[in-house]
Amino acid sequence: MPLEIIQYPHPTLRHVSKPLKKIDAGLRSLVGEMFALMYQHNGIGLAANQVDLPYRLFIVNLKGDPQKGEELVLVNPVLSRRKGLSEAEEGCLSLPGLYGQVKRPAEVVLDAYSLEGKPIHLELDDLFARVVQHEIDHLDGRLFIDRLNTTGALAAKPAIEEFEIQFASQRERGEMPSEDAIAARIVELESLRT
Ligand code: CO
Repeated sequence: MPLEIIQYPHPTLRHVSKPLKKIDAGLRSLVGEMFALMYQHNGIGLAANQVDLPYRLFIVNLKGDPQKGEELVLVNPVLSRRKGLSEAEEGCLSLPGLYGQVKRPAEVVLDAYSLEGKPIHLELDDLFARVVQHEIDHLDGRLFIDRLNTTGALAAKPAIEEFEIQFASQRERGEMPSEDAIAARIVELESLRT
């Protein structure tokens, strides 16, 4: 089955991803598929649980173009030394068309591993710091809509409700697995690599 980007309120978006313990050829091929999907949808970052994979990894290319920018795979990422505060507009491939202002620390330090198991240490600011925090939120089951202020949340409410209605009707049409089936698949995938 090819990977697909799942949309809010798919339950895997609320799953807290466990650290990866095993990187195999199958996983490397899945990460390749994630890059293709991210570019196809004009994204600059994508977390594994956005393609229904319960692994603690995300990908990023700030240019959103395979010919430009740098492709990074961040495995088991950890943030530290958060500094300052900055507010900017965010969107998400799992909530297409919805945007909102989100406040986050302006600077962060990121430690992670590459797909080859090599340690990565990055001191980040601006867009890079924001994307990394947005993606790590995904791995913790958190979405940018959880971080909107009162005004932003009110403005986003109709769009969020529309996503919920769409999801419910997909379920009714039998196009979406049951909660139990989704949970069982996550357990199975975790048993392979976490
Ligand atoms: Co997102």
